[in-house]
Amino acid sequence: MKIVIFEVPKLKQSIFLQSFSNADISFYEEKLNENNVNLAKDADIVSVFVDSDLNKNVINKIPNLKFIATQSTGFNHIDCEYAKTKGIQVSNVPAYGSHTVAEFTFGLILNLSRNISNANNYLRETLDYKYLPWMEGFNLEGKTLGVIGTGKIGKNVIRIAKGFEMNVLAYDLYPDLNFAKENNFTYKSFAEVITQADILTLHAPYTKENYHMINKENIAMMKKGVYLINTARGELIDTEALIWGLKEKIIFGAGLDVLEGEKNIIALNQELIKMPNVMVSPHMAFYAREAVASIMETIIGNIKSFIAGKPENIVNK
Ligand code: NAI
Repeated sequence: MKIVIFEVPKLKQSIFLQSFSNADISFYEEKLNENNVNLAKDADIVSVFVDSDLNKNVINKIPNLKFIATQSTGFNHIDCEYAKTKGIQVSNVPAYGSHTVAEFTFGLILNLSRNISNANNYLRETLDYKYLPWMEGFNLEGKTLGVIGTGKIGKNVIRIAKGFEMNVLAYDLYPDLNFAKENNFTYKSFAEVITQADILTLHAPYTKENYHMINKENIAMMKKGVYLINTARGELIDTEALIWGLKEKIIFGAGLDVLEGEKNIIALNQELIKMPNVMVSPHMAFYAREAVASIMETIIGNIKSFIAGKPENIVNK
């Protein structure tokens, strides 16, 4: 079996080599897409991260392809339904980083609530060691956190929020009422959560149904002064509507680890990145040592179990 692994830094390649010492395996740091699909043309197994684009055309140009192992939880960068029609199985890494991403979510929240990053940048530029009116922040204690999506990450966000003594309101298509009881929070409708939250945080996957779940119509209904956090997927938010909401001062600040289109930074994203009350990070919420180790272990396990004829973590059954 020929295995081709994309989006893997040089430093991590040796870990794969140790695990597949007898396999025909090659590595590329770049993402896989229509421009370089020839690199994978003989592959039986391909592994990619979220910046690759495995659409129909790319899949069709890898004639022996049998298995795609994405190095992520989300799999919206792969046409899974089309892959299925060709008998190609797709696996993901279902559970890495649920603490990692939840902790990062609070990193964004605290940076916005206490202006830590802006204050640090100011001090670095001026060496003027004093606090200024714009540095005044606000407590999280007693504020209402609205959580959209209470899966693995959303649940850890709620646990952390409870440590800050926040009120939590949550919405999920499949509420976990036992978890709500144990953690003393309430499930409400989507409209109730987004209109009552002081801070709104997104932890739902990107699916066709969830595209632009935050849009101009519902931003107009939000509490004036809300903060919006997105560590899930950029496509959940209509970027143009977000910029409108920030300019109208309905949204006082946004913390975004993900953007629509991401690396193909569209003009709107550039505008967002430059706004002082917006904190953008380059899709790195997962990027902690523990999560990276767990991702590697799961991808290697997924590939080995596929080769052994007992595939695991298949998302397009
Ligand atoms: P999960 O599958 O455990 O939970 C997702 C939850 O969202 C489920 O409970 C589901 O019922 C709910 N949901 C789906 N559609 C919904 C909707 N329209 N409204 C409300 N709830 C909805 O996933 P997990 O592990 O919690 O991850 C969440 C997302 O975070 C992933 O799909 C991925 O896109 C993103 N992610 C981002 C990372 C980063 O580095 N920024 C790293 C890992 C995940």
